[in-house]
Parts: sequence; C-alpha cells; structure tokens
Amino acid sequence: MTKGIQLDTKYLKDFVSEEDLAAIFPEVKNAHSLLVSKRGLGKDFLGWIDLPVNTSKDTLKEIEECAEQMKGCSDLIVIVGIGGSYLGARAAIEMLASDEGREKIFFTGNNLCGEHLEKLLDMIEAGNKDVSVNVISKSGTTTEPAVAFRIIEDALKKKYGPNKLKDRIVCTTDKERGALKKLADSAGYKSFVIPDDTGGRFSVLTPVGLLPAACAGVNIYDIVNGAQRCAERMSVCDIDKNPAYKYAAIRNILYRKGKVIELLASFDYRLHFIAEWWKQLFGESEGKAGRSIFPAACDFTTDLHSMGQLMQQGQRNIFETFIIEGNEKPCCKVPANEENLDDLNYLEGKSLSFINKQAYLATCEAHSEGGVPNSTIVISERTAFSLGELFYFFEKAVAISAYISGVNPFDQPGVEAYKKKMFKLLGKPGNN
Ligand code: PA5
Repeated sequence: MTKGIQLDTKYLKDFVSEEDLAAIFPEVKNAHSLLVSKRGLGKDFLGWIDLPVNTSKDTLKEIEECAEQMKGCSDLIVIVGIGGSYLGARAAIEMLASDEGREKIFFTGNNLCGEHLEKLLDMIEAGNKDVSVNVISKSGTTTEPAVAFRIIEDALKKKYGPNKLKDRIVCTTDKERGALKKLADSAGYKSFVIPDDTGGRFSVLTPVGLLPAACAGVNIYDIVNGAQRCAERMSVCDIDKNPAYKYAAIRNILYRKGKVIELLASFDYRLHFIAEWWKQLFGESEGKAGRSIFPAACDFTTDLHSMGQLMQQGQRNIFETFIIEGNEKPCCKVPANEENLDDLNYLEGKSLSFINKQAYLATCEAHSEGGVPNSTIVISERTAFSLGELFYFFEKAVAISAYISGVNPFDQPGVEAYKKKMFKLLGKPGNN
C-alpha cells in the first residue's frame, strides 16, 4: 500500500506561518461541519462525498462490459461532452491510457469549431472505420454537445441505417430530465444515469468519467479504489493529517495576503488535462460573489521558457501548486559522447526523469526566493489508483476552500449569462 497523497509545504515557510494556520483553523472546522452535517450552501449536491464508497462492483462491471462492447465493434469511440461532462474523462485518458487506448478516443462537443467536427465526419464517412459514441450531458440541453450529437447521429444513421444505432450509441445523462434523456428513451439507446445529487464538475467518478476511461483501457476499479482510500483519509478534521484541508487553508491564507492567482503546474505533460479539469473544478466552484482565486495552469519545464520570467519577477500576486510523482521510474539516459561538443558530459548516464526532478527542485527554490509561495502535491506514482486519490483530493479541497470563503461550491449561475445572450442571437424560441 502506497503512502497516498502528501502535501509538501517546505517552500511556504516564508509566506504561511504556523500562526496563520492556527488562526484559520476555526474556519476550516466550520467548513468541515457544514459539509458533514449537510447544512451548507448547495447541500443538495453532496452526492460526490460518498460516491466512491457507494459505487458497487456491479456498477463498475456494467460500465466495463459496455466499454468492452463499444471497443469490440469500433475503431473509434467518440466522446461528446463539455465542461464537467468532458474534462475528467480526458484527464484520466491523457494521464493513463496507452497510445493505442488514447488513439481510439475522439473528444468532441467541447467547442463550436466546425472544422473539428468535419474531421470526425470525414472519418465516419471514410467507410474503413467503425464508430461508437458516448454522449454525455447531465442537463441534456447544453448547446455544444447537443449540436455535435445531432450532426454525428445523422452521419451514423447514413452509415449504418437507423436500426443499427442502438448498438453504437450510449447516453450518459439525468435519470428523467432533459432532451437527451427524451431522445435516448425514444431511440432505445443504452443510458447511464448521472446522480441528481452530483453536479457536473464533481461527476468524474460516475459513468461520466468512468465509461470513457474504460473505453480507453484505463482500470476504473483502481480509480474508484484510490478515491475510496482518499475519501477515508480526507475525512478527518485535522490540518496535519488531512492534506486536502491543509491545501484549502493555505489557499485562503495566501488569497488574503493578495495572492489572487494560483498556478497549478506539473512537470509531466501527461498531467496537462488534470490541470484543465482542476481549472474548471476550482474556477466554477469558487469564482462568485466578487471573490476568486484565478486558477491558471502551466506545463513545466516547457512553460518555464514562456512564463518563467513572469513567475520570477512579475507582479507578486501568484502562488503555485505543483503535482509531482514520488516514484517516477528513471528512463531515457543521456549517452556518453567522447567529443563532448555539446558540453553535456556532466549529465552522462543521468536519466531525463532525474534531470526533470532537479528542474522541479530548482523551480521551487527560485520561485520561492522570487516571492512566489509554492507547495507540492506528491502522488505516489502515475497509476489509476493515484488518479482516483487525486480526483477526490481536489473535490474535497475545493468544497472546504469555497465554504471557507463563504460561497456555494456547487452552483454556477454565472454560466447562464452568455448562454441567454447567445440563445437570443440564435433566435431560440422563448429567448427574446
Ligand atoms: O460543472 C458543471 O455543472 C458544468 O461545467 C457542466 O458540466 C457543463 O456545463 C456541461 O453540462 P451538461 O453536462 O449539462 O451538458
């Protein structure tokens, strides 16, 4: 059994004191009690808390069997969804799937770019690729995935005939509401239910995230087991024993000291979409009532060569959170070279993971000396189990963090503003 997620706060010592942590602890305690007593804002959307424990082996088996069936009849599996109905699945697949698993998946419905969809239509029409679809939308009415699905369903009808679509289309949506549910029932498509009490960005551990992950060959049993173990660890109201609570406390302390931007960065490009998922989770959960820590993300070391200058010497309103793998396997060693024309002999025999680790350590030190507080979330290794832990860790942390700052983590009323204006422009009935 691995140690599980750790939070390394060594480089915070000049910015967050023991007194700061002690002073905010009553607010952490209050947030904790609101959450466990289910008396806080958005209390009808707390299903995610016990989701890992409540997810039965039978449910996972049903998801896995569906994924096997889809894989068996397809060269390409199209995942249609946006926001919370997209990012978690993408994060899991990019972090863990083999090249073969990843290449089998095509994500769409997460933008309104026609050329992107045309690329898919060309593949569907080409005739040499068999295609299945998992369309995901809790409300069943979101414009981007709904429009994409109408176009894709139309193309599949032409390719296979309307009667064959039942074998190729799976819907993940609300148990009774929304246009997608109506459509799925009327066409007889297989459906998975997104629980009422689990909001979009907290739904990665439901079929929303698990079915696409299973389609790409990711071990969903391990994801849920990891989340389960994390749920247990992150249930104690003790900052020293519960890193999710410590992380939530630190964010709020730093925010009150003027650090209004949090930059999440990893040193592994395979975690890029973890940061995308995290951005939505924290941005939509906390950005309200005129308060917010702006969640930004970078891929290091790549972005150290584009954002490093700003991080080191720009406005001192940033703090950083790194995600690091504790037990990364050494690979890809620098070979010997007698001529040494590139002056790299000092690295001879060193692996890229070792060099990367030194870059991480150097960044922690340099940025902290430059006035950027940083802490590190250490995952044991890049596995499905660790990913389950990470998903749950951030969900718990954002709930506590938002309650500390006094906002409802589980709604997103602001997202409607652009939609209303867009519907008016598009002439949607009832939107004049
Ligand atoms: O967190 C949320 O609720 C949102 O980001 C939704 O996930 C996103 O808008 C997609 O909504 P839906 O699943 O209803 O299509």
